[in-house]
Amino acid sequence: MLCTKQKVLRRFWYATVPIDMLADGPKPFILLGEKIVMFLDAEGKPAALADRCCHRTARLSKGWSNKGHITCGYHGWTYDRTGKLVRIPQFSPDQPLPDARVKAFHCDTRYGYVWVALEDPLLPIPDLPQDRDPSYRRIHQFYDRWNTAALRMMENSFDNSHFSFVHKSTFGQLDQPKPEKYELVETDYGFQAETIVPINNPPAAFRVTGTSEPVTKRHMRNAWFMPFCRTLDIEYPSGLRHIIFNSATPIDDGSIQLVQILFRNDREEDCSTRELIDWDAAVIEEDREILESTDPDAIVDVTRKIEMHMPSDRPGLIMRKRLLALLEAHGEREMSQ
Ligand code: FES
Ligand SMILES: [Fe+2]
Repeated sequence: MLCTKQKVLRRFWYATVPIDMLADGPKPFILLGEKIVMFLDAEGKPAALADRCCHRTARLSKGWSNKGHITCGYHGWTYDRTGKLVRIPQFSPDQPLPDARVKAFHCDTRYGYVWVALEDPLLPIPDLPQDRDPSYRRIHQFYDRWNTAALRMMENSFDNSHFSFVHKSTFGQLDQPKPEKYELVETDYGFQAETIVPINNPPAAFRVTGTSEPVTKRHMRNAWFMPFCRTLDIEYPSGLRHIIFNSATPIDDGSIQLVQILFRNDREEDCSTRELIDWDAAVIEEDREILESTDPDAIVDVTRKIEMHMPSDRPGLIMRKRLLALLEAHGEREMSQ
């Protein structure tokens, strides 16, 4: 599946960059192959427009913010958050402005990030109740460009066979390759998937897991939010909850902006932000290396012989089934494998 070819994927919310990044002016972004510019309006709310001036096509992201509007850096034409042209500096004050505009997109803030939907969204931004719970702290771990497909990242998120291999240097148990069963329940937004995973617990992870036992386990209650968001909700026997949210925001068919936010029910003195970022970075780099080696134009290959499917491929197969149903419901056909 090549995501830029499926128009219905434009009807979902995606996390882009932290809202703080817009404080010093407009920023460009590419979402599903569409060049956009994001800036803050007069109330400090983010806005997203096509990154192309309707005068002589300059990138608006080369311009600047102007009292909540955006001004093109070429000749100063100025637009409001709806994309309407509100000023041509070369016109005299009594000269009427042409009725011109650039395309505007849905734009909102959640969890400290700017979210964009290119067309009317089919589902709301994923709800993360921990963000409202004062017993949790929110840590912005990273946003980074990866050279892999968004669906590959999602498929990997629910594939519990890869831990023993990809994560053998951090928490995976190479000698225990057979994963526990996943309980999977489909929902309107995707699915929830619950399982228990025994893991290695090296000293670098003691404060992350809340135990110095050499082996511990993760009780995972994960969720897939169609099409490209997930939560990895880990509960350790210590009572610590380590809840990772990811948006695998599709830049184009072969690259994503991977946003990672962590929620923890402990305090800075229990395990510092630095330790948590470093530990999760070591783990996620292992995923990155293998995911960047995969073919972006596929998810689980359903044409593969049935006997080649492992039970742990099931979440990926359900993901594919749901996405194909979505395409079909909107009159689209998958363009490629
Ligand atoms: S190209 Fe933007 S004002 Fe001329
Ligand atoms: Fe992984």
